[in-house]
Amino acid sequence: MREDPVQAILRPIGPADIPACIDVFYESVDPLYRRLDQPIPPRDPTSLAHLLGHLLDHDAERAWLAETPSATGDPQPPRVLGFGTAWQRESTWYLALLFVRPEAQASGLGRRLLLRTFPRGPLAAPRPYDLGDGATARSSDGGLMGTCVDSIQPISTGLYARYGLVPRVPLFTAIGRPAEGTLPALPRDVVATGFEALPATYPLAAALAAIDRATLGCTRPQDHRFWAHEGRRGVLFRRAGAGEALGYGYAQASGRLGPVALLDETLYPAVLGALAARESPAGPYLALVPGVNHRAMVALLRAGFRFEGFPGIVASTRPWDGLERYLPASFALP
Ligand SMILES: CC(C)(COP(=O)(O)OP(=O)(O)OC[C@H]1O[C@@H](n2cnc3c(N)ncnc32)[C@H](O)[C@@H]1OP(=O)(O)O)[C@@H](O)C(=O)NCCC(=O)NCCS
Repeated sequence: MREDPVQAILRPIGPADIPACIDVFYESVDPLYRRLDQPIPPRDPTSLAHLLGHLLDHDAERAWLAETPSATGDPQPPRVLGFGTAWQRESTWYLALLFVRPEAQASGLGRRLLLRTFPRGPLAAPRPYDLGDGATARSSDGGLMGTCVDSIQPISTGLYARYGLVPRVPLFTAIGRPAEGTLPALPRDVVATGFEALPATYPLAAALAAIDRATLGCTRPQDHRFWAHEGRRGVLFRRAGAGEALGYGYAQASGRLGPVALLDETLYPAVLGALAARESPAGPYLALVPGVNHRAMVALLRAGFRFEGFPGIVASTRPWDGLERYLPASFALP
């Protein structure tokens, strides 16, 4: 049974709202784990603040919060009850974060926020869903709407699926250290070069754009800048001689691997080995592996990695071609 609608006003998120959004995030996500008697994942408010800042920098019109109504002169500032943010790159739209405080859940606020983040116009050759409730979710042959849900969260999974973002691909967290000799060396005709070591004249942005378009279906130069700023170090994989770009990958001193995008997925075992060899993390390496990227999954498991926690599920309005050749950077900004 639905409770009475929560009184809330929706407005765009501004940079000053980031701490309140982080508070909403932890307050709404922790009970999920507590209910299942699972350990609460480690907190990283600094990374979350950077991510929210990035989303506001490039997708401010898709970032909305809900707060309690207030009048001028109220002694209490309005309380942020929930927020939602999405990003759009060319004809790909993606819901990054949607969270509502427990006290305000199950009364329609999540849905109101979600609809505000939706694309305003067609996502290339649109074929609108007739939702019958005034919403403008669109799917299309060219465009794609996606997100990643928690597999332990039926509410969000059901909410998004109602708008055509149906759960399709599990996304596993794999953690470990490759045992000696378990990941092969790169083939002789494949060269790995750190982005910083490429000649200044090398058209890196164009190479990354071409790889992104061929794998995920959209270009995203702003996200590459963000990952560099986060301390992820990029590596370009090229054919020796002709120099044709074959893919890219990132590794971080913390041991995080990804994003990785390869035009030829058979290179995954060697590319993962090459990326891991570039860093010496104090703890294990971590990679997010879509179920359809079987080359990466088999290679990591055979190298001794283990799955951790519950998988996420990539939900989308149509199959997301290219995930079988891709390892995401994160759940919110894959
Ligand atoms: C997920 C979340 C954002 C949804 O916001 P909310 O305000 O609680 O949700 P709403 O009341 O707007 O919408 C609920 C809708 O979810 C769907 N839903 C709920 N339970 C469901 C279930 N068991 N099966 C299928 N769909 C379900 C329904 O469509 C429902 O709408 P209806 O009651 O009109 O049929 C919020 O509950 C939350 O923050 N949860 C914890 C954090 C989290 O998991 N965030 C999502 C990360 S992917």
